[in-house]
Amino acid sequence: MKIKLLLLVIALFAISKLYGQVSDNPVTAVILSGYSERAYTSEPVNDQQLDEILKCGIKAPSSRNNQPWKFTVIKDETTMKDIIKDAIPGNVLIIVSGIESEAGTTPDFDCGLAAESMFIAAHGLGLGARIYGSPAANINSKKELFQIPSGCKAVVVLRVGNIDKSVDAVSAATPRKKAEEIVNFKK
Ligand SMILES: Cc1cc2nc3c(=O)[nH]c(=O)nc-3n(C[C@H](O)[C@H](O)[C@H](O)COP(=O)(O)O)c2cc1C
Repeated sequence: MKIKLLLLVIALFAISKLYGQVSDNPVTAVILSGYSERAYTSEPVNDQQLDEILKCGIKAPSSRNNQPWKFTVIKDETTMKDIIKDAIPGNVLIIVSGIESEAGTTPDFDCGLAAESMFIAAHGLGLGARIYGSPAANINSKKELFQIPSGCKAVVVLRVGNIDKSVDAVSAATPRKKAEEIVNFKK
């Protein structure tokens, strides 16, 4: 157990070094050291963790504070597997659906922000998380089955679970573009 923990610490340190991302701030450290996990244990996400994650989604910013989202929590294995094939018991899926509303509003973008807030919250709690866009079409073709509230359409799914720490965090994450490729400072 101690060896696994030590390996995790080394892996997180290595990933930070690899991408030049080191921070002493607890929030930025979570963002910079996290990745989108695929490998989980069957240890369940507990209700307190789920509640805190959902609260962070509810607290997300949105255009005009419209809060154009609904969160559908799925825990049963059959339904989870219908959404994400390799989901396992202990995972929790949160379908983030946008409220279809008038022109000029931005439900998809706002749902993305809510999903990201919950993604960061999960990592802050020591859990793993991954955002999925591809299951949305399947969910939207069977909205009643997944109990998507009326007037809404699924935008993304957040998968949360306890991280399988036997997976090497450095090779599980994918590299990012260099700052020079992305950021330009107007002279
Ligand atoms: C909007 C969005 C949609 C995504 N859809 C999928 C998906 O359908 N399937 C999947 O395996 N990962 C999906 N991902 C996860 C990304 O592939 C992952 O976050 C990215 O590759 C970076 O991974 P890393 O942080 O582990 O390196 C999605 C991420 C986002 C933000």
